[in-house]
Order: sequence, then structure tokens, then C-alpha cells
Amino acid sequence: MQSDLKKVLYREDQIAARLDALAVQITEDYRGNDLTVLAILNGSLIFMADLLRRIPLPLKLDCLRVKSYHGGTVSTGHVEFDHAALPDMDGRHVLLLDDILDSGHTLAAIVDTIRAEAKPLSLKSCVLLRKMKKRSRPIEADYIGFDIEDEFVVGYGLDYQERYRNLPFIGVLKT
Ligand code: IMP
Ligand code: MG
Repeated sequence: MQSDLKKVLYREDQIAARLDALAVQITEDYRGNDLTVLAILNGSLIFMADLLRRIPLPLKLDCLRVKSYHGGTVSTGHVEFDHAALPDMDGRHVLLLDDILDSGHTLAAIVDTIRAEAKPLSLKSCVLLRKMKKRSRPIEADYIGFDIEDEFVVGYGLDYQERYRNLPFIGVLKT
């Protein structure tokens, strides 16, 4: 798998160090509040597992599965939800977790749906990676692991055609 990569962007130890800091920030911000973490599958699975084990707060975990890529490397802008019903988040502080903020279609569609169908006390989002580019939808994340160039990355949960999610680091795919 490694020979398919152009370069390693973040090693395992660099990711771990960044998650330590991110977890401290999130823990401070949500201390004393009813927190529900809503992880966007599949991309955020590994990030979620490593981040949440660093957050010593009572929290609820729910997942939402969406598809927005349909196999290519460019967002189609069409976001499909696999679950008709959203998890219960009324009266709770909700933190969305996603792997990467790219065009913004995915996060914007999820935020729009939650705002239309649920009544969370607050709604914030956390992404492992944020691509530095102009977004198709005006949306930003509240917590960011790393800012990256506009390149297609894989590993640590991120896939290309469902491969590479199990790489323990983040790398740029050869094009
Ligand atoms: P957006 O809707 O364009 O912001 O993209 C969000 C989703 O597209 C992410 O949750 C990823 O699943 C996928 N994605 C965007 N950029 C990349 C990338 O560089 N590598 C792997 N997946 C990506
Ligand atoms: Mg994907």
C-alpha cells in the first residue's frame, strides 16, 4: 500500500500529539455539559476512537453514515444519508466529528438536516483535516486537527475507493 503514496503527511506520533491537544481543548469546552458526539462514518472511525479515548467526560456516542463521493476524488455535491432518522439530540450539546473538510457539501448537508429536524442545545464540528481551499458551501469547523494543502489524502480512516483506511498515518496518494 505504501508504494501507492507520494509522501507521508503526518506520522502516527504527530497525529497522536495533535489529538492530545485537541482533546484537552474539547474537554475544557464541554466540561459540565451533556455532550453527544456524532461521528460521520466511515471516514471518522479511527479518528473518533483515538480522540474520544482522550476525552474524560461523560458523553454519548452516535454515528451517522453519509456518502458524498461515489468513488472519485472530487465531490459530486450530492450527499446521501443512509439513516432516515437522526439520533436523538434534543437538549444536548452535539459535536460532529468528520475526517476531512473539503468542498463543505457533507458537513453543510448534515448541519442543515440537524437544524431542520432536531433541537440540539448547541452544534459544533470537529474535523481531523481541513483542506485550504475555497469551499462550495460556506461552512467552517470549530475544531481542526491539521490544515492541509488541496491534495487527495488517505490513511487513518480516509479512503480512496474504500482502500487505505487502515494505514496508521496520513499520506498523499500518487496521481
Ligand atoms: P466534502 O463534502 O467535499 O467536504 O468532503 C467530505 C468527505 O469527502 C469526507 O468526509 C471524505 O470522506 C471525502 N474526502 C474529501 N477529501 C478527501 C481526501 O483528500 N481523501 C479522502 N477522502 C476525502
Ligand atoms: Mg470517502
